[in-house]
Amino acid sequence: MRLDVITIFPEYLAPLDLSLVGKARERGQLDVRVHDLRQWTHDRHHTVDDTPYGGGPGMVMKPEPWGEALDQLLDGARAEGRAEEPTLVVPTPSGAPFTQELAVELSGRPWLVFTPARYEGIDRRVVEEYASRLNVREVSIGDYVLAGGEAPVLVMVEAVARLLPGVLGNAESHRDDSFAPGAMERLLEGPVYTKPPSWRERDVPEVLLSGHHGRVARWRRDQALARTASHRPDLLAGIGSAELDRADREKLCELGWVESDGRFWPPGDRVEE
Ligand code: ADE
Repeated sequence: MRLDVITIFPEYLAPLDLSLVGKARERGQLDVRVHDLRQWTHDRHHTVDDTPYGGGPGMVMKPEPWGEALDQLLDGARAEGRAEEPTLVVPTPSGAPFTQELAVELSGRPWLVFTPARYEGIDRRVVEEYASRLNVREVSIGDYVLAGGEAPVLVMVEAVARLLPGVLGNAESHRDDSFAPGAMERLLEGPVYTKPPSWRERDVPEVLLSGHHGRVARWRRDQALARTASHRPDLLAGIGSAELDRADREKLCELGWVESDGRFWPPGDRVEE
């Protein structure tokens, strides 16, 4: 997979040399190219921003450097005989949520181009221009506002890269991921333990030492239900009772959840008739 990042802070992307993504690059599984947007400016100060039309605070990124940068990447690829067009990923707090489902979708693309912005964002015409020729995704990594899109690019690249074939050491490692579509019915993962069996008088739960696979699986599922009920009740409320087995339903009742209308409701959420 090829990844291009166009930014005014190329150094911000240095972590892409490390760890999982760095190793995938060394193995040739990922071709990452980071570009300095200012190389497509032509004035002495390498200006990339200007004041917003209509007034208001902050600055807006000018369209011309982005247009030249993107055209050069697209033309270069065409000249190299590259058949595929990239998917353009535009990080913005006003984008659609970045989810595991989107990470899976992007991991199936041959080429992603990221355009992290600073200031108040990029002149709207850039997205409009490229959306007419490319698959463009405006994406937010969460309901908070960062100073720029570079950290979101690091987040998205890591989420996508670990899904590529051969990038994770153990092919099983993403099977039980929280949010892996279909896995564990969208429950959060429960706690994990390793040696020693006792640490500061805290013992590993006995069931995990029992070697009894059925009991271990049931315990893990109960832990996942309890953690999801506590941290993400919205996820549990989206699961129909029919998707839960009898032991799941008992666990939720034990946690104070109430079954009604084919789904479970958090404690205190349902108004009694
Ligand atoms: N740029 C600033 N905040 C962001 C966010 N939450 N997601 C994506 N890009 C951003």
